[in-house]
Amino acid sequence: MSERRMEENALFASREKAAGIVIRGLSMELYGRKLLDHVDLDIAPGKISGLAGESGSGKSLTGMTILGLPPEGAKLTGSVKYAGETELLGMKERERNGYRGRRISMVFQDPTSSMHPMLSIERQLTDGMRYHLHLNKQQARERAVELLRLVQVPEPEQALERFPHQFSGGQLQRIAIATALSCNSRVLIADEPTTALDVTVQAGILHLLKDLNERLGLTILLITHDLGVMSALADTIAVMRQGKIVEVGDRYDIINHPQHPYTIDLINSLPTKVEERMEAAGELGSSNAAWDAGTVENVDMNLDAGDASIPTIESPTKVSQAGETGAANGAGAIGKIDEEA
Ligand SMILES: Nc1ncnc2c1ncn2[C@@H]1O[C@H](COP(=O)(O)OP(=O)(O)O)[C@@H](O)[C@H]1O
Ligand SMILES: [Mg+2]
Repeated sequence: MSERRMEENALFASREKAAGIVIRGLSMELYGRKLLDHVDLDIAPGKISGLAGESGSGKSLTGMTILGLPPEGAKLTGSVKYAGETELLGMKERERNGYRGRRISMVFQDPTSSMHPMLSIERQLTDGMRYHLHLNKQQARERAVELLRLVQVPEPEQALERFPHQFSGGQLQRIAIATALSCNSRVLIADEPTTALDVTVQAGILHLLKDLNERLGLTILLITHDLGVMSALADTIAVMRQGKIVEVGDRYDIINHPQHPYTIDLINSLPTKVEERMEAAGELGSSNAAWDAGTVENVDMNLDAGDASIPTIESPTKVSQAGETGAANGAGAIGKIDEEA
């Protein structure tokens, strides 16, 4: 185990334990139509749980319901529990605000959908932190820089001055992920996070999600219609059809030994075979074993410069302390940015 990894582990040991979500018997009816039908889903703490299924099967509705944002007029029954205890279903809006964006966050297919086109990246990133974490402008800005490093946006200081339209889709998705994590959420719902991106950019975002999962113990619900993406990343896969979970299991079992005819259809209907897709998505396929062994170093990512920022994600008050910023151990390709910091 490298020294860096040991340091990381020590940092994580002191962190709040990863939180999960347990959904039981969740049903949703809207204008007499049953959109979710007795959904049972475990989003295990510190794991990546996949939710697959064709378009219209109810995946996004499930995600939005966890977040407390079901469609207007939806009738909900069942249970959605956070961290094994807090019932989110039916929670008063006021109390909800303590969870949405603070315990549970969501990123979407189109990152611009959650961004204001006329606000700078600094405003997008810092508004939530100033409101929820009561940071002043300077503290929030410093933390925003750390967050952008964490998600590997190059030249974070300059990036803060820019506006959404000045970034590529992949960079914007990184910024959306940084924003989602800015107020210490323990659970990230990623709804088709790579669907709008081209294959090479997709791989980068998937690597990032895996890395955040490993380094922060971030719990992720990965929603996608694309089993290729899913098989490269998720620990478990649940398959949804017409508002029902039809099959759930370990990713290897679901991909290699699907039981339900619908899952078999889904796998067969992939534009190319899953293995080819995994290869197309860069090293994702071949690096699965490496990920499992915890050696993300094998994957072409440079995360060294982000290390020092990790404690500040959990404890914003430390952001301004000397020696706690990225400059402390800025090695590797983006070390140059660190020296400027
Ligand atoms: N706001 C809404 N009002 C009415 N019907 C909706 C709404 N959102 C989703 N639906 C319907 O619910 C079903 C599931 O949608 P959704 O969860 O978005 O599917 P998925 O994310 O799996 O593609 C679809 O038939 C969709 O038309
Ligand atoms: Mg959807």
